[in-house]
Amino acid sequence: MTLYINDETIEKVREASDIVDVISEYVPLKRSGSNFVGLCPFHHEKTPSFTVSHTKDFFHCFGCGEGGDVIAFIMKRENLSFPEAVKFLADRAGITIEERKPKDNKYLEERNKGYEINKVAARFFYNNLIKNKTALEYLYKRKINNKVIRQFGLGYALDNWNALYNYLKSQGFKDEEILKVGLIRKRSNNDGYYDVFRNRIIFPIIDIRGRVIGFGGRVLDDSMPKYLNSQETYIFSKGNNLFGLNLVNKLSDRKKIIVVEGYMDVISLFNHGINYAVASLGTALTEQQGKLLKRYGQNIYICYDTDNAGIKATLKAIEILRKLDIEPKIVILDGYKDPDDFLKENSTEDFERKLNTAYNHVDYKVFIYKNKFNINQTEGKIGFTKEIAKVIRGLKSPIEKDVYIDKISKEMNISREAIEKEVFGNNNKVVTNKKPIERKNISPVKVSLPTANIRAEVDLLRLMVFNKEYYDKIMQELSLDYYENLECREILKIISDLYIEDEILNEDMLYERVKGMPNLNMTLVDEIIKKPINFLPETVDQMIKDLVTTLKTNRLENERNRIKKKIEEMEKNQNRSPLQEKEFIQLCMELTNLNKELNLIRHEEGR
Ligand code: CTP
Ligand code: MN
Repeated sequence: MTLYINDETIEKVREASDIVDVISEYVPLKRSGSNFVGLCPFHHEKTPSFTVSHTKDFFHCFGCGEGGDVIAFIMKRENLSFPEAVKFLADRAGITIEERKPKDNKYLEERNKGYEINKVAARFFYNNLIKNKTALEYLYKRKINNKVIRQFGLGYALDNWNALYNYLKSQGFKDEEILKVGLIRKRSNNDGYYDVFRNRIIFPIIDIRGRVIGFGGRVLDDSMPKYLNSQETYIFSKGNNLFGLNLVNKLSDRKKIIVVEGYMDVISLFNHGINYAVASLGTALTEQQGKLLKRYGQNIYICYDTDNAGIKATLKAIEILRKLDIEPKIVILDGYKDPDDFLKENSTEDFERKLNTAYNHVDYKVFIYKNKFNINQTEGKIGFTKEIAKVIRGLKSPIEKDVYIDKISKEMNISREAIEKEVFGNNNKVVTNKKPIERKNISPVKVSLPTANIRAEVDLLRLMVFNKEYYDKIMQELSLDYYENLECREILKIISDLYIEDEILNEDMLYERVKGMPNLNMTLVDEIIKKPINFLPETVDQMIKDLVTTLKTNRLENERNRIKKKIEEMEKNQNRSPLQEKEFIQLCMELTNLNKELNLIRHEEGR
């Protein structure tokens, strides 16, 4: 995969991608005059305000303001970066994009090999399943129909020690390659290999780009271990992925995402028409998974198992999500083990009702601690109130604090003053549980004061390191050659490489790779990678716009100065040859154009 596709190819892809055809694959369109209309896929609406113009090669929604060309549509709908969207459309149109391979592509090649083996294995498992009566019956018994089997690409690992190994070998893969993706293990006597997954229902774990990165396998009876997962490999990190996110991204409107514990919970929910559930793969939610949720969903719901482990995991997940500025809602399925269990006896509507009455984190904790402490006894009542006081202390809004102090006081029949003292401490000092900022992280910049331009470059890079969404936005606006500072340019190349490999940028890896480069100004590097970035999510779009403008203006200004100098040089010469005269006029025209462009940017900025 390449990140820089030349303009010619982009044009070719654009021409081959009829906007009405492409969009029709997502939205039913009806002809209306010279345009086509349909229901907007980017916001909820009942009457169509989404218009596609064939002649102008453009779509626009009068309801939500979304608009753009066919590439913009794919970027938005498939959640892809600009080059990824071009690649997507190229694949669709059967155009091959010349791959400009990075210098050291061994690493990438190895990864691609891993994905390929997994894909072939997943197909093998799937074909086994649809031919195996026992395995199919197990799934049917659990109310999983063929459509869902296909959607998730479920499979079956035969009751055999070598079935997959032999198959993969027959497809030309090498022992070490298969070993590396964790599908086989060496026999203890070192004599050959054996399949890891045997006699199990297989759940392929597919990442957001549709690559099979690992597998889960469940026994068909009560034997142990119930589930077996791919070990962590060079292409599979449990904590960086969410089972089902690929389908949520493709099928849902991404307004909501429900995080559940298990494979079967996600599948049951989909089976009931709820196409916005993901599983954190049995582990407690990680920060990386939290970031994925933030990126792909607007409202996050937690619906873990109702047992003690589930409650603990829920409390932990709340903490992780709130640190990322997500206020999750918690779904309580009292009396049922998990969502799958709930849906055995209840309808989709029942589940949706549970979603609509989901708790915020404080109410959830109140609910949990009420069960944990026996509040009918004095001791329990004190214990409960103390725990809740801690929760209230951590709230940011004074109004929220007040509301909950009031509520608890009334419910527990404890005076407001007593709870306030518990919350704020005895001497009314407001105690926050925020950690002080670590000073040592913000080392003073030793380099000579950077120009506004370098400043902007650094800020842009910091945003790009922060998450891929910003990276995509910025890359769409500015190609590599806009960055004048060499450090910035080199670091950006590495950032791009890392984002090709993974959705989430591993900052340590970035640092490692950057460190290996000769002649880099490490102070600047430190600043880009380590300095915490200060911005509000609501203003980040504007921030990016301003920074982009700064870089664009700078380049135009440099160009203008260069031309101005040349013109001045030529003006000194009174006896210009006809050829020189022609060049002179050409330069003057260029200068006029540049001035116009600059004025336009400044004018837009001023608005
Ligand atoms: N899990 C795991 N390894 C285990 C047990 C569980 O990785 N030995 C993970 C799996 O991702 C599983 C999830 O934890 O889907 C939830 O486990 P559990 O609640 O035990 O299973 P259920 O989802 O209820 O599975 P089922 O309904 O099939 O019994
Ligand atoms: Mn279950």
